[in-house]
Amino acid sequence: MRITVHGTGYVGLVTGACIAQAGNQVVCVDVDQAKVAALNAGEIPIFEPGLADVVRRNHAAGRLNCTTDVAAGVRHGEIQFIAVGTPKNEDGSADLRHVLTVAETIGTHMTDYKVVVDKSTVPVGTADRVQETIAAVLARRGLTGPSAVAFDVVSNPEFLKEGAAVADFMKPDRIIIGTDSHRAAELLRQLYEPFSRSHDKLIVMDVRSAELTKYAANVMLATKISLMNELSNIAERYGADIEQVRMGIGSDPRIGYSFIYPGCGYGGSCFPKDVHALIRAAEEIGYDAELVRAVDNVNNRQKHVLFQKISRHFRGQLTGKTFALWGLAFKPNTDDMREAPSLVLMEALWAAGARVRAYDPQSMAETARICGARPDLKLCESADEALNGADALVVVTEWQEFRSPDFERISKALTAPVIFDGRNIYDPRLLAKQGFSHYAIGRGKSSL
Ligand SMILES: NC(=O)c1ccc[n+]([C@@H]2O[C@H](COP(=O)([O-])OP(=O)(O)OC[C@H]3O[C@@H](n4cnc5c(N)ncnc54)[C@H](O)[C@@H]3O)[C@@H](O)[C@H]2O)c1
Repeated sequence: MRITVHGTGYVGLVTGACIAQAGNQVVCVDVDQAKVAALNAGEIPIFEPGLADVVRRNHAAGRLNCTTDVAAGVRHGEIQFIAVGTPKNEDGSADLRHVLTVAETIGTHMTDYKVVVDKSTVPVGTADRVQETIAAVLARRGLTGPSAVAFDVVSNPEFLKEGAAVADFMKPDRIIIGTDSHRAAELLRQLYEPFSRSHDKLIVMDVRSAELTKYAANVMLATKISLMNELSNIAERYGADIEQVRMGIGSDPRIGYSFIYPGCGYGGSCFPKDVHALIRAAEEIGYDAELVRAVDNVNNRQKHVLFQKISRHFRGQLTGKTFALWGLAFKPNTDDMREAPSLVLMEALWAAGARVRAYDPQSMAETARICGARPDLKLCESADEALNGADALVVVTEWQEFRSPDFERISKALTAPVIFDGRNIYDPRLLAKQGFSHYAIGRGKSSL
C-alpha cells in the first residue's frame, strides 16, 4: 500500500518505519529540514531501541523515504497519517495548530480519494475539525459537487510506549479505529493485518469514542501512578512500607502489578499534557473533571518530594553542596526529557544554591540543549564520574545500569554515604548494612 506519514517524531517515524517493514511504500513528511536531511543520511534524531535498524533497512530497500515536499507527500499515499505534535497551550488545552496545518496541506494537494488518519493525540471533536478544514480547502479549489474529491477522516490513536515503541507498534495490544466509513475501515484493516496476526486486534468504533479512548487510557495510567504516590506519602508517615503494600495489592487480579510503582512523579510528552488537555476539554463542555485535576495536582507535588527529603536531611543548608544525579530522562530507555522530574529537581537544587553532577545513559545531549552551559551543572560521562566529591547520590530514573551498583565505591566517592532513591530500586536493609543514610519513596518513617 502507498502510505504517507506527516510528522517524523517518536510516533510518526516509528509508524512509518514499521509500516514500511511490512512491505508498504511509505513517505514520511516533516517541515523540519534538518531532521529530514539527517534521516535521509541514515541518522536517527531520537534514541528509541531498534528504531535505527528498521529505518535504515527500509530506507535502503527503497520502501521508506523522508521529504519536506508536502505536495509529493500528499500525492503519494492513499492513507495519510497525521502524526505531528499536539503540545500544551498555556491554558492546558491541546494545541491543534500542526494538525490543522497538515489538514490544510492535504486539502490543498489531494486529487483523489484519501483516508486521513488522526494518529496524534487530539481532543474529541478534532476529526470533525480536520474534516471541515479539508472540505473548506476543497471548496476553495472548486472541488465540490460533481467534481468533488472524496475523503474520510479516521481517528486511530497511538498507544506505543517510548523506550519500547518499535516492539509496541509491531505487536500492539489493540488497534483502535474510529470511523463510520466502511471503505476507510477496510483500508485500515488491510494495512494493519500484518500487525494483527495472532488474533484480530482491530476495534472499530465511532470517531468520538476513539478520540476519547486515548485520553481515557493515559488518564487511567496517570491515575494509577498518582494514587500510588499518594499512598506512598501516607505510608511513610505511618511507618509502613509502600513496596510491601504494592505487592499486597498487585496480587489482586482486579488491580494487577503493572503501573503501580511509586516514584518521584510521572513526566514525558504524553501524561502531563493529556491530563491537562482532558481537564481543559471537560471544562469547555461545562464539566469539572475533579479526579483528573487531583491526579495532576498529586503529580506536581510528587515532583518535589526528592528535593524535600534532600533539604530535610541537610537541614536546609544546601548552598555549596553537590549532588550526583543518576538518570535525567523521564523514564529509562529513552532520551526524552519532556516534563522530566529531573528538571524540577535540578531547578530546586540550583535555586537553593547547590550544584549538580548529572549522568544519564542517553539524554546528556538533550540535557545540554535544555539546560545550556552553567557553572552549577556538570554533565558527566559515566555514573562513577558523577559521584566524585558529591555530598549525596540521587537516583531519578531507574535505568538498568543503576540497579546493582558497587555500593562500596559509591560510599568512597561521596563525601558521606547518603542515597536518595526516587524510584525505590535499592533494598533498604542492604543499604543500612553498608552504612548508608537511605531515603526512598514511601518506605517507612526513615524515608521522610
Ligand atoms: N511520544 C509518544 O510516546 C506518544 C505516544 C502516543 C501518542 N503520542 C502523540 O503523537 C503525537 C506526536 O508525538 P511525538 O512524540 O511523535 O511528537 P514529536 O514532537 O516527537 O514529533 C512531531 C513532529 O512533527 C513535525 N511537524 C510539525 N508540524 C508539521 C507539519 N505541518 N507537517 C509535517 N510535520 C510537522 C515536527 O517537526 C516533529 O518532527 C502527539 O499528539 C502525541 O501526544 C505520542
